Amino acid sequence: MFVSPAGAWKCVALVLAAVFAVSAAAGGDAERGKTLTAVCTACHGQDGNSIAGAFPSIAGQSERYMYKQMVDMKTGARDPGAMIGMVDALPDQDLRDLAAWYATQSPKGGAASADLVELGESIYLSGVQRKKIAACSSCHSPSGMGNDPALFPSLRGQWPEYTTAQLKAFRSKKRTNDGDSRMMRDVAMDLSDEEIDAVASYLYGLR
Ligand code: HEC
Ligand code: HEC
Repeated sequence: MFVSPAGAWKCVALVLAAVFAVSAAAGGDAERGKTLTAVCTACHGQDGNSIAGAFPSIAGQSERYMYKQMVDMKTGARDPGAMIGMVDALPDQDLRDLAAWYATQSPKGGAASADLVELGESIYLSGVQRKKIAACSSCHSPSGMGNDPALFPSLRGQWPEYTTAQLKAFRSKKRTNDGDSRMMRDVAMDLSDEEIDAVASYLYGLR
């Protein structure tokens, strides 16, 4: 297809406008978000580092990802589990501001178990080639920090119980909010329980 220089610039302008619209829409007010956390702390801890693995730590989680998850729980695209009723009544701006505040906090994490760390690291950084499972780091970044603009969540320092539960939920297709791309369902489909435990343990210790 032939695109005139003027046409090409028009495309660039349209793409830039779309990018700015998305980033402006995602940017919440972290200071206001902090004032809304009272109801969240019982499960997610004072600063988003939760006290038990049944509840995900959300300190330092990526802002746009958190906002998307809360919207997905509101619309039913993601089963809210114990989060049921927590975000349904909150206006959109509150969700944006809460996500902005938790994103500014730091994940504490823990230590990987010595007997799982080698397998976990190899899956995370190289995938499982014989089963054609992609390296987790290609989307979630080698440091485990994720990629906020691309909506790939941070995984570092997360409780292994929670990571394991989510990988099994993607594997059994109970969790389907990775969308039409099925990115996580495809990755999790052929992971064994042992591989899931290993990569979850590795991620707990990742800083
Ligand atoms: C009763 C406990 C509880 C309370 C209170 C609670 N949450 Fe949650 N939250 C959970 C659980 C459990 C999950 C994981 C749900 C699942 O099983 O998939 C979760 C998941 C999340 C997620 C997605 C995390 C991820 O990594 O995908 C976000 C974001 C979140 N909560 C934010 C909040 C905010 C903000 C509040 C306060 C308005 C709140 N939660 C209140 C228990 C709670
Ligand atoms: C092709 C990109 C891609 C690859 C490769 C990938 N992921 Fe993901 N992952 C995603 C996306 C996108 C999401 C968020 C889906 C959503 O919006 O709910 C996600 C979500 C997750 C979650 C849920 C996080 C939370 O807080 O609830 C976990 C756990 C996870 N991935 C682990 C892994 C592991 C372990 C691997 C490697 C075995 C891996 N991922 C490989 C794209 C990827």
